[in-house]
Amino acid sequence: MDKGKRTFYITTPIYYPSDNLHIGHAYTTVAADSIARYKRMRGYETRFLTGTDEHGQKIQRTAKAKGMEPKEFVDGIVAGIKHLWKTMEISYDDFIRTTEERHKEIVQDIFVRLYEQGDIYKSEYEGWYCTPCETFWTERQAEGNVCPDCGRPVELVKEESYFFKMSKYADRLLDHIDKNPDFIQPVSRRNEMVNFIRQGLEDLCVSRTTFDWGIKVPFDPRHVIYVWIDALTNYYSALAGGQADDTLVKKFWPADIHLMAKDIVRFHTIIWPIILMAAGLELPRCVVAHGWLLLEGGKMSKSKGNVIDPLVLVDKYGVDSIRYYLLKELPFGADGYYSEDILVQRINSDLANDLGNLVSRSVAMVEKYFNGEVRAAGEPDDIDRDLAGTAENVIMDYERFMERYELSNALGAVWRLVSRSNKYIDETYPWILAKDEAKKDRLATVLYNLMESIRMITVMVSPFMPNLPPKIWEQAGLTGTDEVKTWESIDGWGRFPAGTRVKRGAALFPRIDSDKTETQDVLEQKPEQTQEQDKTDETESQVSIEEFAKIDLRLAEIIKAERVEKADKLLKLEVSLGDSSRTVVAGIAKHYTPDELVGKKILIVANLKPVKLRGILSEGMILAASQGETLGIITGDPGRDIPAGAKVK
Ligand code: ME8
Ligand code: MG
Repeated sequence: MDKGKRTFYITTPIYYPSDNLHIGHAYTTVAADSIARYKRMRGYETRFLTGTDEHGQKIQRTAKAKGMEPKEFVDGIVAGIKHLWKTMEISYDDFIRTTEERHKEIVQDIFVRLYEQGDIYKSEYEGWYCTPCETFWTERQAEGNVCPDCGRPVELVKEESYFFKMSKYADRLLDHIDKNPDFIQPVSRRNEMVNFIRQGLEDLCVSRTTFDWGIKVPFDPRHVIYVWIDALTNYYSALAGGQADDTLVKKFWPADIHLMAKDIVRFHTIIWPIILMAAGLELPRCVVAHGWLLLEGGKMSKSKGNVIDPLVLVDKYGVDSIRYYLLKELPFGADGYYSEDILVQRINSDLANDLGNLVSRSVAMVEKYFNGEVRAAGEPDDIDRDLAGTAENVIMDYERFMERYELSNALGAVWRLVSRSNKYIDETYPWILAKDEAKKDRLATVLYNLMESIRMITVMVSPFMPNLPPKIWEQAGLTGTDEVKTWESIDGWGRFPAGTRVKRGAALFPRIDSDKTETQDVLEQKPEQTQEQDKTDETESQVSIEEFAKIDLRLAEIIKAERVEKADKLLKLEVSLGDSSRTVVAGIAKHYTPDELVGKKILIVANLKPVKLRGILSEGMILAASQGETLGIITGDPGRDIPAGAKVK
């Protein structure tokens, strides 16, 4: 059973090149890519396969409608798909097209083998066919003569066909699923499939005579091999086809994971394993079905035409941001709604505010206080140990989640370290340490620890955001030292080489001005099943301490104040947060003159989503209390010397 080597074989579905792909296809492919990159980082010889499923009546009809030959038509789409994957940094090792000789040869071999051993036989087929979905339905399933999947009309077809004896293998398959609890993931899908198989499997129609855009049955060329035997076999033919020997098969078969959305999990967990059993080949280790990325109107689909083009998004927001958003947004197995609004929020909060600021603040402080040199750390104190302890925990969680392909959870774990590191800055007050020569060593330790934490975070995010690490390494001064960028190098605290010189660079994730993005659907996560949180102990009007802690309240010093032209209520304030400053637009011009505000220490919500007011980007909100016409800003205690930037709790 065991392949004996540290190899890893991962696949995406082969997509239909009937039209350009959309953000749903990008989701699966980016997820598979991140898993592949993670496995490579872990030292596995990894093979990542994607490709296109090019045969069938629908493609033949679409091509014809455009006055093209099917092959000519799909060539154009496939070129676009390859360009998309290149743009999205998809590191596939092989791209298989079902029109390739290497694929046809293996499909025909398997078909003939199953026929010769009596698992495929000729009979007559009568059924309801949905052309857009390329699926046959029984009379009962196609109730009202419409497709139960897409709701469009089905056609009654009757033809001579070859059939595959699925029922013969049902018990063996149930036994396999029973003995291999991880074979179908998540568990909800596994239960569904088990129930489906228990109801009894009908023999499967595996050839067609009503169209000819497909792989011919070698001994009966009036028939083309119908979609699922052709399509599913790609996972094997990509290793076995057109090869001089069986090196690839020996190395990589069986696949470690077939990844896809739940729409095609039935084909992968029932038909495919049965084909493999019949052909005497090993079954894949697991089939993982993720949820759907939904739009307000339902599931995105090429045939419905309600799609989001990933190229447009990448162009607008950058590859890493889109990859991060997609992988964070869909919890393992559950559906999620796509929303450009939430995408922008994630970029501004998780990427620009949390991670981007952590790097820029840390690097800026190393430059400012130590002329750019990361000095060695001294003896750790409790706060330092807590930071290192969080890192250790996060790395363990990250690994556990990655091994279970729970990508959103793995990212969540990394962001625990990002938040802990930002909090570490608030707790250690580097800008105060900097004022005291005697605290120089302590300051060096604090900054060392920040850079070390950034190093670990960067290693962990690298499978998700492939363009990001080089930018961080550049700023951290680690361009040449590959040994501190490996997975192995984060198994203990303190490998950041002391003496390294940092170099401040451009913002890693520039904030997105939300004015520039048309507001689309405002959507929350819709838990599909299992993900429902326990909400019973919370009443709506109360917030938990965790919820409160999400609001970043800071003491800020007003360093400049001026009126906003043609806005009689607004003042534009420049406020200092100690190590940085920002602009806040406040509606207090009727209550304060600019002069009386300068020098005051006030409270602001520092992580409020930025908004543009009268063309000025306001990054935060100041707190004030009002009663009737009277309004007063909330200030810090003037009798205490608490520095700007201090956290309010
Ligand atoms: O089914 N949300 O191809 P296909 C999430 N050729 N994932 C989505 C999605 C969405 N809204 N839309 C598509 C086929 N996907 C067959 C597969 S495999 C041997 C043959 C992703 O172009 C998801 O992975 O319809 C889904 O399973 C797949 O695209 C379907 O792609
Ligand atoms: Mg589909």
